[in-house]
Amino acid sequence: MKAERLPRLELRDGNTIPAIGYGLFQVPSDDAQRLIEEALAAGYRHIDGAAAYGNEGAVGKALAACGIDRDEIFVTTKLWNADQGYDSALRAFDSSRELLGLDEIDLYLIHFPAPERGLFTETWTAFERLHAEGGARSIGVSNFIEPYLQELLASANEVPAVHQIEVHPTYQQRALQELSRDHGMVVEAYSPLGRSADLSAPAVVEAAARHGRTPAQVIVRWHVQHGTVPLPKSVNPERIVANLAVDDFVLTEAEMSAIDALEAGNRTGEDIPHFN
Ligand code: A2P
Repeated sequence: MKAERLPRLELRDGNTIPAIGYGLFQVPSDDAQRLIEEALAAGYRHIDGAAAYGNEGAVGKALAACGIDRDEIFVTTKLWNADQGYDSALRAFDSSRELLGLDEIDLYLIHFPAPERGLFTETWTAFERLHAEGGARSIGVSNFIEPYLQELLASANEVPAVHQIEVHPTYQQRALQELSRDHGMVVEAYSPLGRSADLSAPAVVEAAARHGRTPAQVIVRWHVQHGTVPLPKSVNPERIVANLAVDDFVLTEAEMSAIDALEAGNRTGEDIPHFN
């Protein structure tokens, strides 16, 4: 998919976000700069990082080295649990900005609700300030399962523009997606391939064979057709390229339904209430 053909979705705050991002979770920091540069060369214009991934510095170096206009690239980073709280969130944001070498970050997310800390509503107030001041062009949350999302919304002045959650064929969190969309959030999907476990599901493999595509391309396409923003990650340059090349085939309704039917409660990520 060429960069100019990569569609963008509109966010509730008027900004737009490229429909597919390159995910950096578990991308080793020693390799991250090279891999991000590969991803940008392949046409990705959306990089999903986090303070906790330890590769913000590598993102900054790749952005500086790639020769692409800053405003063409959508950069996300996330606030780590230990930095929740009003003042500490503001400080953590500045440290992320410095590592990324950016004055403005496209999307800043609260990484986890970390409910035992009891700080996410206060943290959100700091995020609203960062947005009002312009340092964070858009703000959002990640991993806010329903009770925490409701609690945040009850006290927020501004509704998050984005909700990033684990979504893949065997773990779809449909009710949480619907709740998020009902409030106007764009849903981003992390571990969009189920950390590769979903690639061998028969409905995926069969659709891949019918379209002459890889199973990963079929799953990325399934996300795009559902309007979720997948953040596939790979450390393999050929797969990085292939995972973006999904704009020239369309899954049929029957293929979409067959993949929808793979829901199996296979959460691969953290147990949110107990992750603090
Ligand atoms: P690799 O980095 O060796 O390509 P998720 O994005 O759901 O977390 O999944 C990431 C996992 O899926 C990684 O183990 C990655 O391995 C693998 N993966 C990513 N893209 C592909 C692909 N196109 N084909 C096969 N495996 C892939």
